[in-house]
Amino acid sequence: MRVILLGPPGAGKGTQAHRLVERHGIPQLSTGDMLRAAIHAGTEIGVKAKTLMDAGALVPDDVVNAIVAERIDQPDCADGFILDGFPRTLGQADATAAMLSERGLHLDCVIEFKVDDDVLVERISGRYTCANCGAGYHDPNLVPKVDGVCDRCGSTEFKRRPDDNPNTVRTRLQAYYKETSPLLGYYYAKGLLTAVDGMLDVDAVTAQIEGVLARL
Ligand code: AP5
Ligand code: ZN
Repeated sequence: MRVILLGPPGAGKGTQAHRLVERHGIPQLSTGDMLRAAIHAGTEIGVKAKTLMDAGALVPDDVVNAIVAERIDQPDCADGFILDGFPRTLGQADATAAMLSERGLHLDCVIEFKVDDDVLVERISGRYTCANCGAGYHDPNLVPKVDGVCDRCGSTEFKRRPDDNPNTVRTRLQAYYKETSPLLGYYYAKGLLTAVDGMLDVDAVTAQIEGVLARL
């Protein structure tokens, strides 16, 4: 199964991708996570990407296309993958189509997350993760059971993404509407697009997505 999760920043793509990984046993390919790993590792790509990401701007197509092309050839992608945050421009969508057809593969569906802008800003502003295991939290919607202690690993260290601040969120939303929203028409025209109501709670969104996948 090859699925694209498409939606604005904070829509819940990463949250749902993690659940799909657990249920379907195929990997999540998040270009945001890959770029953050490159920044952490101090690679040339990471150094270039950091300034753009911190400002909320998109990283050039050729950079992300190359990262994804390399990743989908890994053995764990043989039975499929979930693309989270990629493609994000029409150029990336064309590159995705080329990458798949060169390998004799096809896309099963594109799931659009519909969420109001004010909710996106609220979700992103409250987001933080465990610095040790990466478990995701949100203040005040999803806090650890014991204050300041990660439910999953017991760590007391938490972190926030540098691009999760109100100014950068606005730039990221603008980038979404300008560069990424044209992909909705692109995939609709191919008969691949299905929308879910991303305003619902996390379990309800998962149920909608599972309903879409069950119909494939
Ligand atoms: P990336 O890392 O992809 O971030 P994003 O698209 O901005 O998406 P987010 O991770 O912010 O949101 P999400 O939809 O995953 O929401 P989440 O599940 O975390 O990209 C970052 C940057 O990298 C870009 O700005 C760009 O610079 C660069 N980049 C990445 N890919 C690129 C590409 N292809 N081309 C060019 N540049 C690229 O949820 C958010 C919060 O809400 C969490 O706290 C969560 O707990 C909560 N939540 C989730 N679902 C619900 C729900 N249903 N109800 C209540 N709360 C919820
Ligand atoms: Zn943890």
